[in-house]
Amino acid sequence: MMSLKLIFAVLAIAVFVNSQEVSPPPPPAPTTQPPPPPSATTECDNPIDLAFIVDSSSSVGADNFQLIKDFVYEIINGLNISETETRVTLARYNNWVDSRFFFNTHFDKSAMLDAVSNMPYYGRGTKTAQALHVVTSHHLQKYNGWREGVDAYPTVVIVLTDGRTKDFQDLGRFSRALKAKATRVIAIGVGDGAYADELVTIATAPSSE
Ligand SMILES: *[C@@H]1O[C@H](CO)[C@@H](O)[C@H](O)[C@H]1NC(C)=O
Repeated sequence: MMSLKLIFAVLAIAVFVNSQEVSPPPPPAPTTQPPPPPSATTECDNPIDLAFIVDSSSSVGADNFQLIKDFVYEIINGLNISETETRVTLARYNNWVDSRFFFNTHFDKSAMLDAVSNMPYYGRGTKTAQALHVVTSHHLQKYNGWREGVDAYPTVVIVLTDGRTKDFQDLGRFSRALKAKATRVIAIGVGDGAYADELVTIATAPSSE
């Protein structure tokens, strides 16, 4: 059974992978205690535009999907949500992408937390590349509340997936398009069999380029 402790451990690895432009931190030591709260809450005392992309495919499973929801809930709960502070958008996906809310849908934290809690689980299929594309082209838009070009509001994207996408052939280019708009993309592996190479593709440019 996947535990939150494991999610945090995987988060540390994904963040490590994504922070290569900065000087590389020491490799995460094996821990028996959960590390401190995820970086999205600790490094972002300043307001951000935060996008969640959440995999609800059947390989993730309903139990792990609940853990993902708990994780997203706790992150949002630790942020200052308002029109002038942090804004959050969320897309859930399996075979299709479901835009649950945009940056300008909920400026009220409790309404946003309700939206997370009420997010349904759908199995069947994993189209991660398509989900990245929908967020890039549709969520990261001024008309949907994205504060494009405002340096005070960096765009942070957190992708939670088991990395078993069916549209892997599109993952490279849609990841690049997302990273061209976002300040930082963090990929978090969920489940025992998360495919690390997909997380690396999402979080960093492919090493061949
Ligand atoms: C929330 O706002 C308070 C008061 O401005 C500030 O002290 C705190 O650091 C903020 N927390 C986050 C996570 O942004």
